[in-house]
Amino acid sequence: MDQTLTGLAAVVTGASGGLGAHFARLLAANGAAVALTARRLDMVEAVAAEIVASGGRAIALKLDVADAQSIGPAFDEIEAALGPISILVNNAGVGGEGLALDLTIEEWDRTFDVNVRGVFFSAQQAAVRMLASGVAAAGTARIVNIASIASHTVLPGLSAYNASKSAVAMLTRSLAREWSRRGIAVNAIAPGYIETDINASWWATEGGQKQLKGFPRRRLMEATDLDATLTMLCGPAARAIAGTLITIDDGQSLPGGG
Ligand SMILES: NC(=O)c1ccc[n+]([C@@H]2O[C@H](COP(=O)([O-])OP(=O)(O)OC[C@H]3O[C@@H](n4cnc5c(N)ncnc54)[C@H](OP(=O)(O)O)[C@@H]3O)[C@@H](O)[C@H]2O)c1
Repeated sequence: MDQTLTGLAAVVTGASGGLGAHFARLLAANGAAVALTARRLDMVEAVAAEIVASGGRAIALKLDVADAQSIGPAFDEIEAALGPISILVNNAGVGGEGLALDLTIEEWDRTFDVNVRGVFFSAQQAAVRMLASGVAAAGTARIVNIASIASHTVLPGLSAYNASKSAVAMLTRSLAREWSRRGIAVNAIAPGYIETDINASWWATEGGQKQLKGFPRRRLMEATDLDATLTMLCGPAARAIAGTLITIDDGQSLPGGG
C-alpha cells in the first residue's frame, strides 16, 4: 500500500460506520494517524482498535458535530494525542428524509445542523489549527468534504438533503477561495449511491429497486470506488486542486435514466 500520508494526522467525522469507517481505514492504510469521531463512541472505538491491531495508528473520540461548540475542544484533544491535524474528512451526515409537504421543522434543522453547520464549523476549527501549527505553511493541509450527487442533482423526496448537500458544494468553493492562499486545499467528493445505514432500507423496497434499475449500470457503487479520489485529495497530488467537487457516481446522475 502507498504510504504517502505517513506522519500526517487525519480526522474523520462520522467514522462509526459506513463511508466514514471506510475512509478512516483507508487513510490509516496509507500511513496517516487517524482520529475517528462520531456520537457512538463504542463503534469508533471498535474501528480504531481494528486499525491499531493491523499495525496502524488511530484514536477514537465522541463528537457530535451538530454541537458546534464541542468541535474545537475535540480537535485540541486530537492534536494532543496525534500531533497537528493535516487532514479533515468532513464525512458526518444524515439523510434528511421526508416529502416536502410533510417535512418537520425538527428534521430540517437536524439535517442542516449536521450536514451544513457541522461541516462548516469542523472545517473552521481544523483550519484555525492548520494555520496555527504551521501545517498549512508546510503544504500538507487538506479538507475533503463529503458532498453527494444531491449537490447538483435532485434526489426525489429528499429536498432538505439536496439543499444541504448543495450548500456543502458551495461551502467547498467559498472556503477554498479564502484558504487556498493560506495553504489549505479544500475540495469535495460527490458520491453516488452506496449501500450504508443512511439508505439501506430503501433498496429493499419496490421504489428502490425501480430506481436502481434506472441507473446506467443497474447497480449501487462500492465504498472502495472512492478510494483513489479520497487518497489523492488528502495527499501531495492535491497541491494545486482547490474548490473542486469530484463526482464519482457510476453514471447514476447522468440524465435519461436506464
Ligand atoms: N451512502 C451513500 O450512498 C452516500 C452517497 C453520497 C454521499 N453520502 C454521504 O456520505 C457521508 C457518510 O454517509 P454514510 O452513507 O456512510 O451513512 P451512515 O452509514 O448512516 O453514516 C453516517 C455517519 O455520520 C455520523 N453522524 C450522524 N450524525 C452525526 C452527528 N451529529 N455528529 C457526528 N457524526 C454524526 C454517524 O455516526 P453516529 O451516529 O455514531 O454519530 C455515522 O458514522 C454522509 O455525509 C452522506 O451524506 C453517502
